[in-house]
Parts: sequence; C-alpha cells; structure tokens
Amino acid sequence: DGGAVEDGSIGGVGDIVHEGLRNLEYRGYDSAGVALVGASSGLTVAKRSGEVNGLTVPDVPDATHGVGHTRWSTHGPPTDANAHPHTDCVGDVAVVHNGIVENYEELKAELSDHEFTSDTDTEVIPHLIEEELAGASDEDGEGGEGDEGGEGGDLLAAVRNVEDRLAGSYAICAVREGDDRIVVARRGSPLVLGRGEDAAFVASDVTAFLEHTRDVTYLEDGDVAALDAGDVSIFHHGEPVERAVETVSWEADAAEKGGYEHYMRKEIHEQPSSLRQTLAGRLDVDAGDVDLDVSFPPGFLADLEEIRIVACGTSYYAGRYAAQLFEELAGVRATVEIASEYEFGAGRTPDRTLVVAVTQSGETADTLGAVRRANAAGARTFAVTNTLGSTVTREVDGTAFIRAGPEIGVAATKTFASQVATLAMLAVAVGRDRGALAAADARPVLEDLRGLPGAVQQVLDEETQVREAAREYRDSEAFFFVGRALGVPVALEGALKLKEISYDHAEGFAAGELKHGPLALVTPETPVLAVLTEGARADETMNNVTEAQTRGAPALGCVSTGDEYDTLDVSFDVPDVGIVEPLVANVYLQLFAYHVANEKGRPIDKPRNLAKSVTVE
Ligand code: F6R
Repeated sequence: DGGAVEDGSIGGVGDIVHEGLRNLEYRGYDSAGVALVGASSGLTVAKRSGEVNGLTVPDVPDATHGVGHTRWSTHGPPTDANAHPHTDCVGDVAVVHNGIVENYEELKAELSDHEFTSDTDTEVIPHLIEEELAGASDEDGEGGEGDEGGEGGDLLAAVRNVEDRLAGSYAICAVREGDDRIVVARRGSPLVLGRGEDAAFVASDVTAFLEHTRDVTYLEDGDVAALDAGDVSIFHHGEPVERAVETVSWEADAAEKGGYEHYMRKEIHEQPSSLRQTLAGRLDVDAGDVDLDVSFPPGFLADLEEIRIVACGTSYYAGRYAAQLFEELAGVRATVEIASEYEFGAGRTPDRTLVVAVTQSGETADTLGAVRRANAAGARTFAVTNTLGSTVTREVDGTAFIRAGPEIGVAATKTFASQVATLAMLAVAVGRDRGALAAADARPVLEDLRGLPGAVQQVLDEETQVREAAREYRDSEAFFFVGRALGVPVALEGALKLKEISYDHAEGFAAGELKHGPLALVTPETPVLAVLTEGARADETMNNVTEAQTRGAPALGCVSTGDEYDTLDVSFDVPDVGIVEPLVANVYLQLFAYHVANEKGRPIDKPRNLAKSVTVE
C-alpha cells in the first residue's frame, strides 16, 4: 500500500511518510521504502525487505514531499531490490504502485535499452515515465489535450500517457526531482486524498494519514491527480474534475477495517477484488488456456500418474475441491491428504507423482513436514500459497501464488476462494499440457472463472438475507452442512467456518452419508445447510435434505439461479458460473458463520485457542 505526503510547512516529511506506512502495517507486509524530494537535495530513496519498523528513513531536512510503500509481493520475492519505490535509469523519477501491471512483460521487452534492477512488474512504470519525459514532445499527440502545464517533459502529462499503456488494475504515486508535485493515478486499486490546511496526502487507505486530516476525497477509476502543498488538481480523461470532500468520522481502529467491524467481514467483502487479482493476466479465454508462469520438466505432465495434494484445515478443503477439478479437467488421478497424516506410501512412483502443498501462509509446520517427506521420497513438489518468500516456496520445485493480499482474520475466507481459483487454473494448465483438455472444452471453464468475481459480488449484495437467516437459527443445537461432488468440500468448509468463530457444533457431510449415521442426530433443532448448485449434484443432494426435513430439520439451500426447491425454508440464489458455483455458494456460508458468531458477540477475528499461522506439528 502506498502513502504519500506533500507538505508545505510542517517539516519532517520523512517521519510523516514513515508513520503513514506504520499505520498500514496491520495488514502484514514484507518490504518497505520511501522516496523523499528536497528542493536542493534532489531525490533520496531508501528501501528494504522486512517490516516497516526496520526501515531507516533518511534524514532529508529540505524535503518538501515524498512517497512511501509497504509491499505484499505479487511479482518477485520480498528482497531489497524488489521493494518500492522503483526508479528510472536517470534516477530522477520514483514510483510506488499497488496492483498488477498485467502487460509488464511486453512493456519490458519494448524497453530493452533500459536497465532493470528488480523482478517486479512495477519497475516498467518509472522507465516508461522516463521515456515520456525524454521524448514526449514528438509523440505526445495522445491524451495530451487539457494537459495542465502540459508540454512534453511534464510529469503529469507523462503519467497520463503511461497510464494509457498499462493493462491491469493499479494505483500509482510518482515523484520527480525538481518537480514540487506528487502525481497519482487510480485504476482498480483504491486511492484516497487527504486535504490538510497546508499539506496534502494520498494513500491507499485513510488510516495512513488520519492523524493529520479527516477531510478526504476518494478518487475514481481513471482519475489522475497532482498534489502540491497548497492544492490538489484532479483530472479525468484529461479534463479537470471536482470530486467531493468527505469527512471521515471513524476512529483509526475502525478505519483499518475500512469501516467494517471485523477483518473477517472486510475480507469476505474483498473477495471480488482479491479474486480479480488472482485471475489478473492469467486467463486467455480465446486460446482456451491459462498463463500461471509455472513450468515443469519436458514430458513430466504427460507421464504424470498422480497428483497428491497435501494441506490442513481450510486449505485441505480447497485441495478437496481441486482434486475433483484435476480429475475432470486434467484427466489425472488426484488424491488429497491431511498434511499431518501424509506419507509417500507404497505402490507409487516418485518421478511420476506431483505433490501439491496448498498453504496460504506457506509456514504451516504440518504442511512443510509433508513437503519434506515428499521431497525425501523423490517426488516433484509444488506449492500454492499466498506468501512470496515463505518457507514452503524455498522447499518446493515450483510455486503458483494466489495473490489474495494479506488476510488478518484468523478464519480463512478470501484465501480459500483464491486458492480454489488458482488450483482451477492449474488444473486447466495441466490438462492443456497433457492434451487431456481441448481448447474448446477449456473455454467455458475460463469463462466461468472470469465470471467468478462478479458472481461473488452478487452474493455479497444478498447479505441482509443471510443475516436474517443467521438471526433466526442462531440458537440451534447444532448445524449440519451437506453437499455432493464439489459441494462436499464446501459443506466441510462451511461447518469449519461456523464452528471456529461461533463455537457452535457444526459438521459437514457428503449428503449421501446422512442416512448412514448422522441422521440419528437430526432434530427440529439442527438446521441443515445444503449446496444445491451445478457441480454438486443438486437433485440427489435435495433428496437427502428431504430425509432430514422429514425428521423435522429446517433446511437452507444455496441454489443455482433458475432452479427451485419449494420445500426449502431458506433459499439463497447462486449465479450461474458452472464448476465454480459451489465456491460462490461458500460465500453464503462464510456470511452465515460470520453473522451467527456476530449475533453471539464472539471475538470473530481471534477465536479462542486458534492462531493464524500454525508453526508447530
Ligand atoms: C481455518 C484456517 C485453518 C488454515 C490451516 C492451514 O479458517 O484458516 O484451517 O486453513 O491452519 O493454514 P495454511 O493455509 O496457512 O497452511
């Protein structure tokens, strides 16, 4: 997340930027840096991997403005070189950036005469700005009208032109030696301006500068703005625009959570954007393929005998979802093991086995133990994780990152969704590589993945209905979750979420198993929640739900749009997105768990006895 300050008089610009970064650190970042601009000292940059507190901000007494950044890596591991700000070759432009530049590889190829010093997608931006500043006068036809101070060589015009060339979602802040402005641009990633008396601020989150001003302006997508100490100018498509100034009434603690009472609810609501980030630049629907930037030795996937997924808890359920996708899309036997139970096992061929560790933290001791046993047996290992530079990434042969952004709530929500989405893409990639999946058959799957963020948003828009259901059933004796096929891992995950944050007894079953035992527990006091979507054999599941209803149990179902099960007590509508419908249904179950726990006043973000990252076996 970026933070920046343009300060005419208070002094201590470096301290203000540093404090702003500290205010954002609750999100758990892996690198930090600042760039300060002084009237005579020019541009000073300091950056390093590690926490914000470990960063020494240089003393620049004549600094008038500066930018800072704390990084959650998406491209390139958390190293000093990959930390932001990034600079151009000349060394007079510095940029901080949130989001992903999807076309950075093409842009980097076009900049072949520039020397790059990092592995980040961000670094193309200062180099493109440098090109604009150097050569803008001959080519500046595009987007040049309405430029403020707009002849070639102007930072604002340069940022605007560069913005036209970037694909993806991002927020950018740029500074230049000899220029007393900070120029910012927003597309898809948040940016908020703070408007002080004689200072201006900009950050990805108001928390960064709340102690300096509560008067804020939220930029809109496509806005470019220039800040100097006394003023803020905002442009949209080259035209000056006015944006409303609002006063923030929250306290800092609430602001950190974006106005939500709990991180968990904030993270549930972040899923449309975290999923967009997971999928960004990776789906090629026309070609019927995905680009996950992973590689395997020639012939390895074609000869593959088995994919064995190892994971714990919620990640294990993501693995159970994925195993079905690997079998269906990649035509390969796929099994899932709880990491602490995993042994390589007899009758398997190490060099024809891919062991996939699914772990959002990358630090779970049980999962690392499984990876080590797989490595010792000679199997090829692969990680699916949210954390660049985590231990698991150093011990496996290959990694795919889920790019969900930091998750603070102990109960995993957005990371589960991004894990399943990433594994689905991996299943397509493996299937295509093995020749098991034709482009024409991959295309509808990729379309469904593309529709996932929007479908999740539609579910979030129905939160009131879920809250009402949670109020109605909150005092039940126990809760049973059922599904079939892809609905099974979702039922198991729904039960885990509810039990860990509400402390209620909740269990998930394969729906067909109800009659083989659990039905004895069913009473009018035990609601049954069912996954009744595509990919989850809805009609058969409904038969089992009816068996429970016959014993008096209330029934709640997540039902594909257009289908109707009239006997359900509550029916939640799941938009049509094919094999990821059960994943969308899961968002209802997350909200249900959240609201039951919230009704009971539980400490939702930190449930008793649990830790976010379990580093003991
Ligand atoms: C439950 C939850 C845990 C984790 C498990 C594995 O909400 O978060 O069950 O999924 O501890 O953690 P990672 O994915 O970090 O290996």
